[in-house]
Amino acid sequence: MSNVRTRWYKDAVIYQIYPRSFCDGNGDGIGDIKGIISKLDYIQSLGVNAVWLSPCYKSPNDDNGYDISDYRDIMDEFGTLDDWKEMIAGMHARGIRLIMDLVVNHTSDEHEWFKQSRSSKDNPYRDYYIWRKGKGKNGKRPPNNWTSRFGGTAWEYDEATGEWYLHLFSKKQPDLNWDNPKVREEVHSLVKYWLDLGVDGFRCDVITYISKVEGLPDGKFNIGIVGDEQFTHGPHIHEYLNALNKEVLSNYDCMTVGEASGVTIEQGLLYTAEDRDELDTVFTFEHVECDTFMRLLPIKFKLSNLKKVQARWQYGLRDKGWNSLYYENHDQPRSLPRFVGDYGERRKEAAKMLAISYMMLQGTPYVYQGQEIGMTNKQFEDINEFKDVMVAYIRKVFGVFEPIFRKLIVKVLNKRARDHARMPMQWNDKEYAGFSTVEPWMCINPNYKEINVEEAMKDPDSIYYFYKKVIDFRKNSPLVRYGTFKEHYKSSDDVYCYERWWEGERLLVICNFKNNEVPFDIPDDLVYTECELKLHNYGYDRPKAQSMVLRPYEAAVYILK
Ligand code: GLC
Ligand code: CA
Repeated sequence: MSNVRTRWYKDAVIYQIYPRSFCDGNGDGIGDIKGIISKLDYIQSLGVNAVWLSPCYKSPNDDNGYDISDYRDIMDEFGTLDDWKEMIAGMHARGIRLIMDLVVNHTSDEHEWFKQSRSSKDNPYRDYYIWRKGKGKNGKRPPNNWTSRFGGTAWEYDEATGEWYLHLFSKKQPDLNWDNPKVREEVHSLVKYWLDLGVDGFRCDVITYISKVEGLPDGKFNIGIVGDEQFTHGPHIHEYLNALNKEVLSNYDCMTVGEASGVTIEQGLLYTAEDRDELDTVFTFEHVECDTFMRLLPIKFKLSNLKKVQARWQYGLRDKGWNSLYYENHDQPRSLPRFVGDYGERRKEAAKMLAISYMMLQGTPYVYQGQEIGMTNKQFEDINEFKDVMVAYIRKVFGVFEPIFRKLIVKVLNKRARDHARMPMQWNDKEYAGFSTVEPWMCINPNYKEINVEEAMKDPDSIYYFYKKVIDFRKNSPLVRYGTFKEHYKSSDDVYCYERWWEGERLLVICNFKNNEVPFDIPDDLVYTECELKLHNYGYDRPKAQSMVLRPYEAAVYILK
């Protein structure tokens, strides 16, 4: 028996909603809360137990809500606090919990605190943010060499007081100064505010950046982001998270998942080990960076790289922490065709195989809106089609050379852009994919006529019904939720094969990542007398777990005794 505590989120499957792109309830082309309410039955039908909602707070939308101007109210475009209350009540009535996004590394520059802060050096809010004098004559050079995660310097000069403020993201997202106890109190109080309104947890946005090294020293030269080592897992981060947990979170039955870019297993354990009372889980990035160079530029996907990373985390957190499992979110391109290559006519088989490949692992799985119907990326032709603020920054970094590199930039963005995941949810084959009645804020993937929810619900063999089955199987199987993990054929670039075991039962997972037949031998040490096929993306004609030739993208899950 594992010595890991039982908590509701460990038994949960969580569905992520990016509200701007989910469903438009009032016909203005922008997704909103009324739209979400109208789809609660759909969400419930999938069998998920919780929703993680990307930010829906007041925001001028420089980074689609990740720039908050009022933490205690709802974005005008999304509706009102009353709509939100109706939504959470509707979720709870359906047995669905609500995880809100907590974006507290930075605010919007339109937040009242920042407006005050920038107004004068002796304003009581000055120290809520990170202000410094510039370098050089007249202080016209940034205070240090850190770069924003979107590109370019992480500092913005402000005329009013002749100083610079730090922004690790866009210049409309100034970083909060967590070393100021008042800022920490504000965060505690707003977290409490939402918990008292019934929220069941938080996804903590870029939480590993909140504590910066004292004196803000220059960072090491780096082709990617400069300054990472000065602001990631900073000196006081554990102290700050621990206090938030002790003073607020621990008084509620809530969960936290921290977005933890660049986190190692050792650090992951510091954040999530159960006796440390900080976060419950983290989102790691290594697996979604396994097809990139310097965490940015696309390189060829190799299954063995993905498996290596996932296995390390499976073994690493075993009995001590808890994993979060995901392939997609609002910052990642779609997993089709990212992890399966050219799927041609086999989109359904490939998507179902991917579902099995990560949802049978140990941890809490997340499904990003549209993943359950196999939504895909789109080929963008023109740089102006991209809506993401990050793209504007990348263009700025290239400066006058941008037109020369434009083709290459579009090529890279077609693999990596966050815009892929932000195209509206495809509900049906009518105009605007049933997302809205007017032209949406962001283009619709032209494949919506074939790939949409209505179609998926009509087709008993759809990806949607398969997800439902996988989720249901997981929810009813302590073996899948709590079993020990063991990997087979580590170095194979074709097949993902692993085993889980729990109280005398074993689960065998076999996934062919290739769009062609692949021979497969049952691992030598796998002795069993009884065998039951539980999940299969080709129908039920694989009675025995034995040596076999796997069909293209074939995936099977057996229980062995
Ligand atoms: C996180 C969010 C991303 C946002 C950034 C800044 O990485 O997932 O969408 O741009 O934080 O808040
Ligand atoms: Ca709307």
